[in-house]
Amino acid sequence: MSNRQRPIRVIGNWKMNHGPASTHDFFSALGALVNFNKVEFAPLHKALQAGRLQIGIAPSFVLLGEAIRAARSHVPTLEVAILAQNAHAAKAGAYTGEIAAFQLKELGVQEAIIGHSERRQLFGESDEVLAQKLHSLLEQDLHVLYCIGETLNERQEGKTREILKRQLRTALAPNPETLIKLRDRLEASDATPLTIAYEPVWAIGTGVVATPEQAAEAHAWVRSELSEILGTSLSQRIALLYGGSVTPENFAGLLAASPEIDGGLVGGASLKVESLANLLKIAAEAPTSPSAH
Ligand code: PGA
Repeated sequence: MSNRQRPIRVIGNWKMNHGPASTHDFFSALGALVNFNKVEFAPLHKALQAGRLQIGIAPSFVLLGEAIRAARSHVPTLEVAILAQNAHAAKAGAYTGEIAAFQLKELGVQEAIIGHSERRQLFGESDEVLAQKLHSLLEQDLHVLYCIGETLNERQEGKTREILKRQLRTALAPNPETLIKLRDRLEASDATPLTIAYEPVWAIGTGVVATPEQAAEAHAWVRSELSEILGTSLSQRIALLYGGSVTPENFAGLLAASPEIDGGLVGGASLKVESLANLLKIAAEAPTSPSAH
């Protein structure tokens, strides 16, 4: 048995779903459901107060302002972080259709997802572009949630480890200043500037979730890569989330599989209030000493 070193994070990735009105309704319904007075949600409030759980939602850019307002007014005690699903590497300038870190920060967004497999596959974002984004977002004091993961072919060809290593190394290692910045920020603050989401591409939106053993094995690899890159002690500060068809039915099993599974990046199952509330309940009740692999 091994104790959890980090808080569990449950981050909903709404992708291109919801509009301003349904965003408002979502948070208002969440507030009504996850109520302090309800016994079934007492562990959730306790976990939040103890700093054992962090909640985030990543809506489309156009919903960020509404989500921040609605989360503050309807679920203040959940302290929901609102994340962007992407951000541009440049500080500002002639990049039509793009969004800069300073614009996000001014709105109240502190963290951005980068490297989601849909960005890599559908919008051609390469490891090199992601390395620039990671560097620039860390420089600009945004928190980064960096996604990595292998395709089905890559897994079947036995290349999972190689792919994860490449995606980590090409993002973190090419520019020595990225590592310096990351180390500085890890040493300076309690809040983690970097979270990694392991999202096997074959599990995203497919209903085929990785088994707890597959997820635990991949997380152990990622942790050992991170400790090679950053040293053991700093690497321990980085949360590793699993993503890909997480639901209230499989989440408890994933969290129980390993203390290296620090939560979930959840797409489809974060879009409905009841389902998100169930995921939060499961995270709050997860064992503090999951079985180590
Ligand atoms: P899913 O998406 O939970 O719908 O599989 C996860 C993700 O893409 O982050």
